[in-house]
Amino acid sequence: MTLDRRIVLGGGLALAACDRRADAQTPVSIPPLRSAAAFPVGVCVQEEQLGDPSLVPLIAAQISQVTPEWEMKMEYIVKDDGSFRFEAPDRIAAFARANGMRLFGHTLIWYAQVPGAFERLEGKRIKFGDAYRNYILAVAGRYHGQAVGWDVVNEAVAEDGNGWRDSLWSQKLGKLQHMVLAFQHAREADPDAVLFLNDYNLENIPRKRATFMKLVEALLKAGAPIGGVGTQTHLAADLAPGEITKALKDLASLGLMVHVSEMDVSLTRSRGVLKDRSKLLAGQSRVYAEAAEAFSSLPAAQRFAFTHWGLRDKDSWLKRENPADAPLLFDDAGRPKAAAAAWIGGLRA
Ligand code: XIL
Repeated sequence: MTLDRRIVLGGGLALAACDRRADAQTPVSIPPLRSAAAFPVGVCVQEEQLGDPSLVPLIAAQISQVTPEWEMKMEYIVKDDGSFRFEAPDRIAAFARANGMRLFGHTLIWYAQVPGAFERLEGKRIKFGDAYRNYILAVAGRYHGQAVGWDVVNEAVAEDGNGWRDSLWSQKLGKLQHMVLAFQHAREADPDAVLFLNDYNLENIPRKRATFMKLVEALLKAGAPIGGVGTQTHLAADLAPGEITKALKDLASLGLMVHVSEMDVSLTRSRGVLKDRSKLLAGQSRVYAEAAEAFSSLPAAQRFAFTHWGLRDKDSWLKRENPADAPLLFDDAGRPKAAAAAWIGGLRA
């Protein structure tokens, strides 16, 4: 049994390696994403990428909105002693201003990020709720006037869609209440930004989408000033046709703004339905085309933006998970892939 498995795995790896040749595509020529789309087109950036002389012109040509990939999260902003630092997000904000791009804030409250400084508040003079409010006021307040929106709460729904996640925030401030407070504090800090609840797997796990939508309704009812829903759209190349269209229609039925907030289409996270790499690449193009078409079909007033979680394959976070992945619209050299042409082809006026 073990031996069989090893043979299968070994065979799979060899196949994947030789199939990488499928990536060498005939060059495609595309208009800039930002001028092809009737809505803002975003990308995530890291501060160190702003010094990359081949990436910066690509971003400037293609993109009209930037999201800091990690440097507006607590992991960067909150220092060990509980003080804040803003050097990197300030540089990204300045880059956006200098290039006439919108800035999108990501993310204020995330179960996955709980700095030690917050954990150590127990028994301290400053109350947890005050520190929580101070943080949101400081961060969202700093970019008031520039940030067009914020992911206020990120990934609140449980992995399988069964209820909401537990976190330090929910334990201290209440399961629903910590989210209501986060939205209210963000509104206090920035009366103009559109405030989002953002999550993933909303396309491929309908139960998670249903829980997410019920959560939005519960938050609105409890007085949270939510203006939009973000669907990260981290998908795999073998996603069944129709899932994205259904999900975006459903999400839009809430009547709020919709943000495709972190799209990529993984080859290596696919479940093996598409066996070789050229089929996976074709599947990837299909998924991108459906996403562009489904988003274009939403009412214009609800189309907040469409953000890609990177432009070049080599910059993708998924590359760190599996170096064989190639989930984005541009290859390592910044040349548009067939997926880029497919995304543009899916756009509707
Ligand atoms: C990822 C970034 O791409 C990484 O660089 C970072 O270190 C970890 O987070 N969902 C999210 C994003 O909301 O913030 C994540 O980004 C990807 C999954």
